[in-house]
Amino acid sequence: MRKKYVIGNWKMNKTYEEARECVTLFKELLDGKYKDNVKIVVCPPYTALSVVAYELQNTPIECGAQNVHYMPNGAYTGEISSDMLKDLGVTFCIVGHSERRQYFNETDTAVNKKIKILLENSITPVICVGETLEQRENAKANETVQCELYKAFENIDKKQIQNCVIAYEPIWAIGTGKTSPAEEAEKMCKFIRHIIKELYDVQTSENVHILYGGSVNLTNAKDILAMPNIDGALIGGASLKKDFVDIILTQE
Ligand code: PGA
Repeated sequence: MRKKYVIGNWKMNKTYEEARECVTLFKELLDGKYKDNVKIVVCPPYTALSVVAYELQNTPIECGAQNVHYMPNGAYTGEISSDMLKDLGVTFCIVGHSERRQYFNETDTAVNKKIKILLENSITPVICVGETLEQRENAKANETVQCELYKAFENIDKKQIQNCVIAYEPIWAIGTGKTSPAEEAEKMCKFIRHIIKELYDVQTSENVHILYGGSVNLTNAKDILAMPNIDGALIGGASLKKDFVDIILTQE
């Protein structure tokens, strides 16, 4: 039985102190309300990872990063390695977010390398895939997602992929307030599961967690998360406030 994942991506928001206050609020609101079938992850910016990881000790909430470099160490000014993340207690890391692909030239090859180094360090990669509006309008959404998945999982074996989380994030729905209708999101997540079955096997495809992301909020979360092939949500804007907890609490 797959769990539901609720992952908050804070992007470039919150100072050290704001992050501490926010995560303290989440802990207070969730106290005594955790459920075994719901996994909660908060991904603050790098500068707040240590304080968030510290505050989350001895709670079921896990701390994730938003990016990592694919080399283990070396002369890469401004970059952070998977070892450094692990050292802080980070257990998840977003990879290939469309904002990184778009603004920071994160390529499919880099995504593949990042997945590999994270898995070596027992950090769960949250791999983002999704089409632009133009690709959707030209009936190229499936092809785009399929291509991103093939490249992301090159030379990743069956055992490794079960330690990965996939997030379907249609680019046109991110931060725009335009959510994909639950049925459309379900269709794509089902298609992603089918691709995993083709690449690996039925059992692997049934085990892998596939999330939806893109303007998830308190109003639409319940319907989206009720879909059979959607195993949770990657949440940006709504994860910066109390709504994040309210979304978690919609899960039975
Ligand atoms: P959003 O962001 O919820 O603000 O649309 C989602 C994401 O980028 O992961």
